[in-house]
Amino acid sequence: MKRILLIVGGGIAAYKAAELIRLLKTRGYAVRCVMTEAAHHFVTPMTLAALSEDKVYTTLWDLKDEAEMGHIQLSREADLIVVAPATADLMARMTAGLANDLATTLLLATDKPVLVAPAMNVRMWGHAATARNVAQLRADGVTVMTPDEGIMACGEYGPGRLPEPPAIVAAIEATLAPAPPKRLAGRHVLVTAGPTHEPIDPVRYIANRSSGKQGFAIAAALARLGARVTLVAGPVMLPTPHGVDRIDVETAREMADAVDRVLPADAAVMVAAVADWHVEPSQQKIKKGDATPTLTLAENPDILATLARSPHRPRLLIGFAAETERVIEHAVAKRVRKTADWIVANDVSGDVMGGADNSVHLVTEAGVESWERLPKDAVAARLAERIADALEAAS
Ligand code: C5P
Repeated sequence: MKRILLIVGGGIAAYKAAELIRLLKTRGYAVRCVMTEAAHHFVTPMTLAALSEDKVYTTLWDLKDEAEMGHIQLSREADLIVVAPATADLMARMTAGLANDLATTLLLATDKPVLVAPAMNVRMWGHAATARNVAQLRADGVTVMTPDEGIMACGEYGPGRLPEPPAIVAAIEATLAPAPPKRLAGRHVLVTAGPTHEPIDPVRYIANRSSGKQGFAIAAALARLGARVTLVAGPVMLPTPHGVDRIDVETAREMADAVDRVLPADAAVMVAAVADWHVEPSQQKIKKGDATPTLTLAENPDILATLARSPHRPRLLIGFAAETERVIEHAVAKRVRKTADWIVANDVSGDVMGGADNSVHLVTEAGVESWERLPKDAVAARLAERIADALEAAS
């Protein structure tokens, strides 16, 4: 039985810790909770004790607790430390290596893996200090989840919401899973991800709603299997996955050039939502009040189709298809039209773009496989294993 030490920080999202504990318990984890002083204002120790079926620890200064279960012992008896919700303050104290309460003392004293699920106001998340702290924590080996985007308890909108408990459970399972065999060692895999921006003038551009999350998750999953991964990314606000080489581009034509430069590759996964058209951008900002401008669109290169015809065509070429209707039918036709080996089709009529989950159909020469709705990380892990299967079978 795996043992989770859950540190609950003092934010409104602390109430979701209760649901997280319940989910972990139903999956057979032992959960022991530590609360910060501030967390008491949002959730009671009684709630967490009842759900975790264990004592809740709150202070360094309880002689009885220290005698029976020292703070070092709390960390020793855990397989993973999870901080959820992690407030801006708690992350700042972790980054600085402070040990001024039980939670931070534990975090400083532990040699166990640490997973952090942040939750805070959108501007606190966007503040340079928090960004610095997140980058430092990641460099220190802490896994920091990306918060969700949406309406906040404070009535504002944006990134900073605690990832939903099932996503935290998935991250816990991924962190605890033994490292998979390096089945893709010695292989080079190219991944494109994110949207492209096509400038209209120096301040405006044409874009789409792609968040880059699925492509980045695929790059991360391939790197975990030992591949050398080159990720050509459109404009997104996502951290570079561990062990991945990243090239940032803005437009479809820049993406096409970057893809060209990084070949050859054993496999390519074209996840980017590439703009189909560009305009010849105006050198100066187009002024309102002049005649209403007309945008003349010109077609962008189809990077996937070009790669399929190139002498450097990777042995395994995978396209994505974002559709809002007749998803499978369009994907089957796209596979043939673009001469890709596989098409991963997803229905983007719901909340897939920017969301945490995806439900995809894998279209291959052999037919169509519909996967259940999964977190994007899980879709990525499964696809990476399939890529390893295919490359092993082909060599
Ligand atoms: O034709 P459609 O845009 O639906 O095709 C989607 C697939 O083609 C994705 O894999 C996408 O990355 C790729 N694509 C591309 N270059 C384009 C348009 C799409 O590589 N200009």
